[in-house]
Amino acid sequence: MDLQSVLILVSLLVGITLVLIIADFLIGSNQKILLRINKEKEFTISSGGTLLDALSENKIYIPSACGGKGTCGHCKVKVDSGGGEILPTEENFLSLGDKKEGVRLACQVKIREDIIDVSMSEDLLDAQEYIAEVVVLEDLNYDTKFLKLKLLSPNVIEFKPGQYVQILVPGYEEFRAYSIASPPSQKDMLDFVIRYIPKGLCTTYIHKALRIGDVIKITGPYGDFYLQEDSDKDIICLARSTGIAPIRSIVLHLKERGMTRDAHGYYSGRTKKDILLDDEMKALEEKHPNFKYYIVLSRPAPDDNWEGETGYITDAVPRYEESLENKEFYLCGPPEMIDAAMETLKRNGVSEEQIFFDKF
Ligand code: FES
Repeated sequence: MDLQSVLILVSLLVGITLVLIIADFLIGSNQKILLRINKEKEFTISSGGTLLDALSENKIYIPSACGGKGTCGHCKVKVDSGGGEILPTEENFLSLGDKKEGVRLACQVKIREDIIDVSMSEDLLDAQEYIAEVVVLEDLNYDTKFLKLKLLSPNVIEFKPGQYVQILVPGYEEFRAYSIASPPSQKDMLDFVIRYIPKGLCTTYIHKALRIGDVIKITGPYGDFYLQEDSDKDIICLARSTGIAPIRSIVLHLKERGMTRDAHGYYSGRTKKDILLDDEMKALEEKHPNFKYYIVLSRPAPDDNWEGETGYITDAVPRYEESLENKEFYLCGPPEMIDAAMETLKRNGVSEEQIFFDKF
C-alpha cells in the first residue's frame, strides 16, 4: 500500500471514530435516567456522566478526596441495580464482601441504564456543602498550620467529635479530607491542624496561597471514627502528627461534658519540634485530674535534652496504664503507626471491638 492510501485509510478511521464519539456523547448525555436513593428519594439525571457527579449535582456530597480520579477509594456507595459491571479501576478498593454487597466507587460508575438504585447511610445523606471564611491561619510549628473557618452558609454544622470534612481546592475542583479539631459545641467555627506535604495539592494551597478573609467551600461531616457517646468506658487516645486534631475534638468535648470518663492521651513525634498543641494539652491536664497526657519522642534530637518517653508510642502505654481491660482506644495517625499500635494492643489482650482508628 502506498503512502497516499495509508493516509486516506488513517483519515477515514479517525473520521469514523470522531463521529462515533460525538454520537455516543449526544445520544448518551440526552437520555433521562431515574436515580433512586434508599428507595425513597428520586432524581432525574442525564446519562453519560458518573454517579459521583450525579449525586453532587443533586446535593448529595459523598467523600471524594481524589476528585473522581478513582485513586482514593473514598466514594464507596452500594449500587443495588443499574451500575453495570465493576471496572478494573475499582478492583483494588473493593473487598470480596464489598463486591458481594454491590459496593462500587461512585466516580467509576457510568450513568447508562434507565434506573439506578443506590443505598447509603443517613449520615452520608446529611453531609452538606458549606461556604466558609478563613478567620485564623497561623503556624503551629515549622510545617503545620492552625486553620479556623467561620461558616457563612449554612452558618452552623452538626458533627461528632472525631469526624472530618473535605476542603475544596479551587481551580482544581478536588477535595481533600481534614479532621475537625474543634468540639461539636462550636457549631459556627471549625478548627483544623494542617501539615504541609511537599507537592500535596491542598496542603500547598492552604500553606502557600490561602489568606485570612478568603472564602472557601467545604463538604461534610464524614467518617465513622468518632467518640462513642453511649459508652461510659475510660478512653485511651494514641496520636501522631496531625492525628492530634480529632483527639483534640474528642478531649475538648469530654471536658465540656465534665470529663466524667478518664481520658489518657499519648502523642508521638520524632523530635520536640514535631509536637503540636503541647501547651493546650498540658493546660487541660493541669485543670482536669481525669485527663493525663504523655509525649513519646521516637528520635529526640540532641538539643531536645529529652528525658521523657522514647521509642514506639504503644510501648509507653503499659507503663502508665494499670489495665487495658474495659477501655476504649482511639487511634489516629499514619498507617504504619496505626498498624503497629493495633498489633501491640492486640498482643496485650485488647480486642478489636475496643479499638477505633483513623488512618490518614
Ligand atoms: S472519588 Fe476518589 S476513588 Fe472515587
